[in-house]
Amino acid sequence: MTVQPTAPRARPVADRFDYHDPLFQADPWQVYAALRHAGPVHFSAAANCYVVVGHDAVREGLAHEAVVADFPLRTSRRTFGRNLLDLDGAAHRAFRGHIAPLLGARAVRGYLDTAIAPLVAETVAALEPGTPVPVVERIAAVVPYRLMCGLMGLPESDAGWLYAQMRPIARTLDYPPDTSDAVRRAKAVVEAYLRGLVSQGAIPRETMTGRILDAMRDGAEPYDTAAVLATLLLVLLAGTETSIAGITNVLHGLAVRPGALARCRTKDGAVRVVREVLRLKPPVHTALRFAARDFTLAGTPVQRRYPILFSLASANRDGAVFRDPDTFAPDRAERGALAFATGPHACPGMNLAETEFAELCVQLARRFTSLAVVPGTDSEHGHSFRHAPGLSLVLS
Ligand code: HEM
Repeated sequence: MTVQPTAPRARPVADRFDYHDPLFQADPWQVYAALRHAGPVHFSAAANCYVVVGHDAVREGLAHEAVVADFPLRTSRRTFGRNLLDLDGAAHRAFRGHIAPLLGARAVRGYLDTAIAPLVAETVAALEPGTPVPVVERIAAVVPYRLMCGLMGLPESDAGWLYAQMRPIARTLDYPPDTSDAVRRAKAVVEAYLRGLVSQGAIPRETMTGRILDAMRDGAEPYDTAAVLATLLLVLLAGTETSIAGITNVLHGLAVRPGALARCRTKDGAVRVVREVLRLKPPVHTALRFAARDFTLAGTPVQRRYPILFSLASANRDGAVFRDPDTFAPDRAERGALAFATGPHACPGMNLAETEFAELCVQLARRFTSLAVVPGTDSEHGHSFRHAPGLSLVLS
């Protein structure tokens, strides 16, 4: 009997959504485009989860009552313990209610003069023109870590030390994930540091940490030190590592998009540039959720108990919503970019991040007239904090 060779089967389009695939890491945008072309909602047999890539389906899904955040296998939960990201419904709303006022537009306007502008001025003044500047080390890690220390009531002089300790923890949430013992050790060191400050009563009440402690004490569930520490770590990481990636992407945008730096001489121009870079290159590519029951999303049945990956990055390039979606157009009229997600867990730090990034752009644009990428330094990695970690710029 002769066996007929079978034709190689094309890989199903949804299975190309694979963080571990070097092709996906090098250019996720072509995978998102192929997926969107095939439909807004897919099932990936490779990842054993649903993948949502259409803008409207991402919006609808992240706000759907059948979609929940509480999911034991989530990497952030396994790393930190159960935290704000894992709460749903009333418990989640109550918790957010405690910290949201410290991150609202009014509060952030206050931080602009008292904390953000002086910190950015000091950072920009320290940059030497004409020589390569490693962006993460000299700018993108400095501003968010010092700012978050201030807002969380941690000594600002600890910012550099904390940044170094958080490296393995940040790596475990991204690609390629760090699963070494270094993660466990780093977590123990940072937790001991936070526990020490909390137990000494060294943290003022009107800081994010003070509010989180109040929230945990007032919460419906019993006060539990592990949960407090998990949430403090999550907030520290959420406010810093996303911003490192965001600032790096924005500064890369200022270097490679003609006219972008000049537009940043005004605050309004800078805000538009920041928003458009974050639409095109959001640091956080996906939001993970879980189907609490069977439901239908954009015409596709979704089965309960399955994880769902909502692709914010793909949604931001959906041509059904954004005209010429791959083009940098800071004056575009369309709204609805999802770099900060949407629904109950939408980023409460959006105002802070946008204000911080825009202020940095304004001050850079007032001191420099050109930013140039040092060739070979702009290769991007990751899906949680996607950016070019080795980016180097010459400012003149
Ligand atoms: C470029 C900067 C930033 C980006 C792109 C970003 C993006 C996001 C995204 C996409 C989420 C939703 C995650 C999910 O639904 O699974 C989120 C949540 C969150 N972000 Fe941000 N973020 C940024 C900056 C900040 C800053 C400065 C803070 C300040 C504290 C912050 C605090 C948080 C917190 C606490 C959550 C959890 C909210 C919840 O679960 O209800 N983020 N962020």
